[in-house]
Amino acid sequence: MTLSGEHLGKRFEARRGRRDQPTHTVAVDDVSFALPAGTTLGVVGESGSGKSTLARLALGLLAPSQGEVRFEGDPLTGFDRARRRAFRRAVAPVFQDPRSALNWRHSIETITTEPLVNVRDGNRRSRRERAARLLEQVHLPRRVLDQRPAELSGGMLQRVAIARALALEPRYLICDEPLSALDVSVQAGVVNLLLELQAGRGLAIMFISHDLAVVRHISDRVLVMYRGRVLEQAPGRAALPHPAPPLHPAPAGPAGLRLGSRPPVAELPAESHGQRGSVVTAYQNRQRLLHERMEQRGVDLVFVPPSGDLEY
Ligand SMILES: Nc1ncnc2c1ncn2[C@@H]1O[C@H](COP(=O)(O)OP(=O)(O)O)[C@@H](O)[C@H]1O
Ligand SMILES: [Mg+2]
Repeated sequence: MTLSGEHLGKRFEARRGRRDQPTHTVAVDDVSFALPAGTTLGVVGESGSGKSTLARLALGLLAPSQGEVRFEGDPLTGFDRARRRAFRRAVAPVFQDPRSALNWRHSIETITTEPLVNVRDGNRRSRRERAARLLEQVHLPRRVLDQRPAELSGGMLQRVAIARALALEPRYLICDEPLSALDVSVQAGVVNLLLELQAGRGLAIMFISHDLAVVRHISDRVLVMYRGRVLEQAPGRAALPHPAPPLHPAPAGPAGLRLGSRPPVAELPAESHGQRGSVVTAYQNRQRLLHERMEQRGVDLVFVPPSGDLEY
């Protein structure tokens, strides 16, 4: 049960421009990845390194110029309509900015249930119940159903976007910089939520970010991209049983990717949202999840102090 890409390439032809302009951009160049069920693949890289293009290839929204995306072993290109529909249900996107990804004229109920309507799942009443349950899973109160995006904070909107992504019970979430448009104060809450959903549902997550500290912290594997290529692939730090030498001896080249220079996510204040998510419980939840993950892997527990780096 894996979503994978083999030697993916994506080249964009430039529109007819001046003669001295390049005729094409190679956005993704010979990138292979594997996202097994229930795991997190972190993708980091500076702006323009091809992360979003990789995400769109993985979602089947773009056709690769080279290589192929495989869904549970089989290339997407060979899918008939039924298999394509199953793929669309199984692999769901979460985009960077929920403010632009969600329709502002619609109620949160309509937004959350739209994927269900699209596949003619249930009736109005059953869908409202489903929407309420989805909101519960992302720790939003039921009253949000009747609100509109303009009434919610960025963090709450990203939770709505995640609830919507979960509507068809996907097994893979492709999250393209899901924190970047959010206030720093709510970022940890969204990370906690994704980890929690993963632990509860066995979701596989492709987590794209330009923040290596967060990615390294939550990922089983990390793929570092630079100018469309994979600069490095390494296990996420949290997966390592022993103190490891720095995973990323500062590679020459990528300016703007300052490795390990940001505080770990534990340092970020947790989000206060609704009645349930106090700062303290969000922090404790994250500790519990981390410990569970460590135990599952049979490695030493990791202690994450409220400030400072990971300690083993
Ligand atoms: N639809 C497109 N048409 C032409 N060029 C594109 C298109 N999408 C992305 N690119 C180019 O491909 C490169 C990688 O972009 P992108 O995948 O968005 O990077 P990232 O998400 O890492 O910032 C950039 O140079 C970008 O300008
Ligand atoms: Mg991008």
